[in-house]
Amino acid sequence: MNDNQRTSLVLVVLSAAFALVTVVFALDLWGKPAPVHQWPVVDSDFLKTETWRRSYADLVRAKADLDAFDCYGCHEEGKKQELKYDAQNRLVIPDEHSDIVMGHGTHGRNNNCFNCHNDANLLRLQARDGHDLKFEESTILCGSCHGPTYRDWEAGLHGRTSGYWDRSQGSFKKQDCVNCHNPHSPKFPGRKPAPPPNYLREKRAGSESPPTAH
Ligand code: HEC
Ligand code: HEC
Ligand code: HEC
Ligand code: HEC
Repeated sequence: MNDNQRTSLVLVVLSAAFALVTVVFALDLWGKPAPVHQWPVVDSDFLKTETWRRSYADLVRAKADLDAFDCYGCHEEGKKQELKYDAQNRLVIPDEHSDIVMGHGTHGRNNNCFNCHNDANLLRLQARDGHDLKFEESTILCGSCHGPTYRDWEAGLHGRTSGYWDRSQGSFKKQDCVNCHNPHSPKFPGRKPAPPPNYLREKRAGSESPPTAH
């Protein structure tokens, strides 16, 4: 055997060895494949981006039912609506407004309807500084009592702003207070936290389940 023949022999043997390894891998003859875990699909509620409450402005845009805002469909125009209190001096909500649960602040500090609604015109809101406002302008009403939170909201520290950072590319939208707070009982309801992220691959083959949310 000369040198050339020896080189050829080594190459042939190597090629055959690699071909064999290829077949072994292709047919998966070696070891066990890691079990593929079926992670549960995330509840689609967590992927929704709309706010949990629709404001009057949203209802108008969606052409939704606005009966509850048709105050003078039931009330008499020009007649001042009195507030009714029980013997303990607690506000009595009439049956026609039974869907309203009043609980603004601890001990119902801000339950008086006319702290916010205009008693001379039920179709308008009234801020503490006397400003006459439309239902669409309720954020200014909230701001008239919640100054610090309103300033945080204006600065983007409270609430939610979506759209463009770069204003030259497009507009941005701030959510109104009433998109997140019911004006009558504004405490933000507790929510279930979203589940933690799943591993793309098992940390250890056969490890039981993903960590669960508490
Ligand atoms: C479905 C009919 C209906 C509609 C619509 C309606 N009201 Fe009333 N509302 C009533 C009735 C009935 C009473 C009780 C009147 C009474 O006892 O004198 C009442 C009472 C009230 C009171 C007094 C509450 C209390 O606890 O004493 C306020 C304030 C009031 N309504 C505001 C409004 C405003 C503001 C709107 C519109 C945004 C509106 N209402 C729409 C029927 C209605
Ligand atoms: C803290 C301010 C505030 C107080 C207090 C308040 N409201 Fe309202 N109310 C609002 C705002 C703001 C809206 C419009 C909210 C929106 O855009 O969804 C509204 C909406 C309504 C509506 C129409 C929609 C609905 O929820 O039915 C009625 C009726 C109403 N208020 C009646 C009353 C009555 C009656 C009282 C007193 C028992 C009262 N409100 C107390 C701020 C207030
Ligand atoms: C007339 C003044 C007044 C107006 C107008 C007003 N609030 Fe309030 N708000 C209060 C007071 C007073 C409290 C109670 C603070 C406390 O208990 O320490 C309160 C409490 C709250 C709380 C805390 C509730 C809790 O139980 O933790 C939220 C949230 C809130 N308001 C949101 C709003 C929003 C949204 C609006 C506009 C629709 C609004 N407020 C309009 C006076 C007002
Ligand atoms: C995108 C939703 C969202 C918007 C918009 C929003 N809030 Fe809130 N707000 C919250 C959440 C969430 C909390 C915290 C609730 C908790 O900790 O239990 C909160 C808490 C509050 C509190 C309780 C005290 C505090 O500061 O923690 C007040 C008062 C309040 N908001 C007022 C407002 C007012 C006024 C506006 C409008 C100018 C507004 N919020 C807009 C979601 C919102």
